[in-house]
Amino acid sequence: MNRVLVTGAGGQLGQQLQEISSAYPELKFTFASQADLDITDEEALESYLKNSAFDYCINTAAFTDVDGAERFAEQAFEVNATGVKYLAMACHKHHVTLIHISTDYVFDGKKKEGYFPEDIANPINAYGASKLQGEMYVRHILEQYAIIRSSWLYSDYGKNFYTTISKKLLEEKSIGVTNAQTGRPTHAKDLGKFILDWIMDKQRQYGIIHFAGPEIMTWYEFAKKIAIEQGLGHEGKIVKDNNYRSFAPRPAHSVLRMHKA
Ligand SMILES: NC(=O)c1ccc[n+]([C@@H]2O[C@H](COP(=O)([O-])OP(=O)(O)OC[C@H]3O[C@@H](n4cnc5c(N)ncnc54)[C@H](OP(=O)(O)O)[C@@H]3O)[C@@H](O)[C@H]2O)c1
Repeated sequence: MNRVLVTGAGGQLGQQLQEISSAYPELKFTFASQADLDITDEEALESYLKNSAFDYCINTAAFTDVDGAERFAEQAFEVNATGVKYLAMACHKHHVTLIHISTDYVFDGKKKEGYFPEDIANPINAYGASKLQGEMYVRHILEQYAIIRSSWLYSDYGKNFYTTISKKLLEEKSIGVTNAQTGRPTHAKDLGKFILDWIMDKQRQYGIIHFAGPEIMTWYEFAKKIAIEQGLGHEGKIVKDNNYRSFAPRPAHSVLRMHKA
């Protein structure tokens, strides 16, 4: 039986992995929240991995507040880069295969055709830069790893675009949403299944992998879709906000593509 450590288990993807884990009886999971295991604590990581014979580590731990990362870049780099470096070092030492989750925000969003795993990253905000630095540590330290980049994660867990819009639809008369950014919304459950299926797959590919939802859309279109799916007739509440400005710049067209066909 393969033993799997999930870091950042209190987060959206971590909780989603917990929900689906029972469908994978061949895997024995340990879910570690930040309180259980802080990936920026090198000594704690070392003893955690030394004392348990893990085969895989799924790193979902991250500083994910994109505007917060712009304001507090040092903290974002501490988790998304330095913490990932420590984790990769501990995985290397204890022969654990690292599956590290990364983001479409490593790209600048200028490529209209979308991005393949081998395209050159060029982040335009501190969050993307910190995540790219983390990727580089993984690639430098480990020979066998998976860096799975995904985008626009949503689910019933935590605060994400889906839960925020769903709440606002019930509370507000009009909800302004930008139409200026395009991406691929990805259900965290689909990403979770993809990760666990990767572990089970004997033919798997290592290296950088892209996984994102099937449809390409703007945030405005995504909000409309959420409203329509709720079936409460609230879709008219979603309006385009042409003046939307976020504190951190966001890539305009960060569409992940899986493979060169
Ligand atoms: N959300 C998205 O739209 C999106 C898109 C593309 C890629 N991703 C990537 O997907 C992964 C999972 O994202 P998510 O949506 O599940 O994020 P999330 O809900 O913010 O979860 C991240 C978790 O990491 C924990 N954490 C923060 N610092 C830590 C540390 N030093 N040590 C251990 N744990 C720490 C957080 O704990 P606290 O809650 O206690 O702070 C939180 O529970 C991340 O790598 C993210 O970069 C996310």
